[in-house]
Amino acid sequence: MIDIRRFPDAQNAAAAAADFIIARLHAKPDLVLGVATGATMVPVYRQLVAAHRAGRANFARMRCFSVDEYVGLPPANKASFRATMAAHFYDPIGIDPARCFVPDAMAADLLAATHNYEAAIVAVGGIDLLMLGIGTNGHIGFNEPPADLAGRTCLVDLTAETLAANAHQFDAGILPPKRAITMGVATMLDAREILLVATGAGKREAIARALLGPLDPACPASALQSHPHVVAILDAAAASGL
Ligand code: GLP
Repeated sequence: MIDIRRFPDAQNAAAAAADFIIARLHAKPDLVLGVATGATMVPVYRQLVAAHRAGRANFARMRCFSVDEYVGLPPANKASFRATMAAHFYDPIGIDPARCFVPDAMAADLLAATHNYEAAIVAVGGIDLLMLGIGTNGHIGFNEPPADLAGRTCLVDLTAETLAANAHQFDAGILPPKRAITMGVATMLDAREILLVATGAGKREAIARALLGPLDPACPASALQSHPHVVAILDAAAASGL
C-alpha cells in the first residue's frame, strides 16, 4: 500500500520530501541515498542544502547513487546528471565526490558499466532510501514504457516524449543524447524504501496510472505498487487525478 501524502503546492511538497530524507539521515548518518535529477527535485535539494547550512543535517557520511545518466555526455557538461547533482546538491553540501556514484556513461564498454554500477550498489549494502520523480509517460529513472519491470541497470533508448521534456536541460547547439544508462526497475525495487515526488498538473495522469492503475510495463512507475515501503509526496495538482 503506497503511503500517499498530499501538500497544497510544490514548495510544501519539496519541504516535506526534504524533511523525510533528513529524518532518515538522522536515523542512519551513513545513509545510502538514491538520487534523481529533474525539475521536481531542484527545490528538494534546495531545502536539503538549507538544512545543511542551518546545521540541521550532516551529509558527510552519506553515499549517493544517481538513478541515471545520459550516454556520451562528459561529466563536465552541465547537462550531465553528474554535473547537475554537483551543482544542486553535492557541491553546496561539500560532500566528498568519491561518495557520489553515477553510472559511467562515458565508458567504452557500456554493458560493463551497467554491471559495475549494480556491483557498486551491492558493495555498499544496497540503497536505503531511493528518491524518484516520474516522467509524464510514467517512466522512473529512464525506464521508458514499455519497461522490463524485472530489469536491472541497463542501457536504454529515450522516447521522443522524454527527449522533448528534457530539451530545456541542454544549451543551444548541444545535441541531446538519445541514450542513457538507468537503474533498472528491479534495481529500484531493491531499495529498502522509496520516496516518490511529483508536482504539477503535468504529472496528474502519470500519477493516477502509477498509483491506481494495474501493474503495467506501459506505466513503469506502476511497479512501485509491488514495493512494501513507498511514500508518495504529491502537490495538489499532481494528486488531482487520484
Ligand atoms: C527525467 C529523469 C527522471 C526524472 C523524471 C522527471 O527524465 N530521468 O529521473 O525523475 O524525468 O523529471 P522532472 O522532475 O523534470 O519532471
